[in-house]
Amino acid sequence: MKTHTILMPLDMHLHLRDGVMLENVAPLTAYSFSGGIIMPNLVPPVNTLEDVKAYRARIMAAVPNDFFEPYMTLFYRNYDKAFLQSVADEITAIKLYPAGITTNSEGGVSSFDIEEMRETLEAMSDLEIPLCVHGETDGFVMDREAEFMSIYELLAKNFPKLKIIMEHITTKDAVEMLDKYENLYATITVHHLLLTLDDVIGGMMMPHLFCKPIAKRPEDLDALLSVALSAHPKVMFGSDSAPHPQHKKESCGCAAGVFTAPIALQLLCEIFEQYDKLDNLQDFVSDNAQRIYGICPEFKEITLEKRPFVVPEHYSSVVPMYAGEAINWAIASVD
Ligand code: NCD
Ligand code: ZN
Repeated sequence: MKTHTILMPLDMHLHLRDGVMLENVAPLTAYSFSGGIIMPNLVPPVNTLEDVKAYRARIMAAVPNDFFEPYMTLFYRNYDKAFLQSVADEITAIKLYPAGITTNSEGGVSSFDIEEMRETLEAMSDLEIPLCVHGETDGFVMDREAEFMSIYELLAKNFPKLKIIMEHITTKDAVEMLDKYENLYATITVHHLLLTLDDVIGGMMMPHLFCKPIAKRPEDLDALLSVALSAHPKVMFGSDSAPHPQHKKESCGCAAGVFTAPIALQLLCEIFEQYDKLDNLQDFVSDNAQRIYGICPEFKEITLEKRPFVVPEHYSSVVPMYAGEAINWAIASVD
């Protein structure tokens, strides 16, 4: 049987939520990943030192049987340097959301006034805290990411020492931006390596494939595949696995988010094998992130094998991507 081994997989964009949901989903990621960048969009958002420490403790309590490193983040607002100094050792990045653009982002940034943001962003540059960005405007849904490119340019030019991560990129425009500025990096999800808008709304409307940013056009998918499959050195895997209870996905008004945590590595193997690029998967799913973030996860070895695996219909209250369907790779062992 064909097998493939991955060392220290990292999920550089992950929603673990809180409470019962955290207890349900955190073990699924901790089983097969060494660590993950934990998104701060709780209600209320994670934005004090106490919040970060307490949330980290709740995550650790939810994964008692696995070694897993939660790389914590703060929810961006304009912070002063003294505060950032006090929190720097506890966080790996700060996540910026434009106000109201996605789930639980109401307290985000409502105007990108560089002078108002300067103190925070200069302090982050000095303290070497990367800025992760949800890059969408409130324009027409298919153009939101492309419209945000001018804001990425503004940030990249004004803060050349700040590492800026374009989160969950979905467009050719964002791929092209990567090579334009030294300090721009990106995460890519597994679902955006598989889907276009057609898969979401082209036939029956598929609530479990609906997320923000929405999957785009075939040429965007091709651009994402080209940088992921070649493990472009500025690109990292970030699942953006975003669980919502089934009733919030299958009701009138579907919450945005695709839940992929338990099948992400299997799907990545399938995609990289399909294009004969399995040799590049290690860089995409771990080594690039280790280098970009300067992190050093503890040893974990995941072996996958090529055999059909039927994705469960539910993980407790959450329906995963491809629920009930067979995918072509399965996890064989974790050491
Ligand atoms: C995320 C969530 O549910 O928290 N939703 C999503 O569609 N990706 C938020 C986000 O990353 O935009
Ligand atoms: Zn997200």
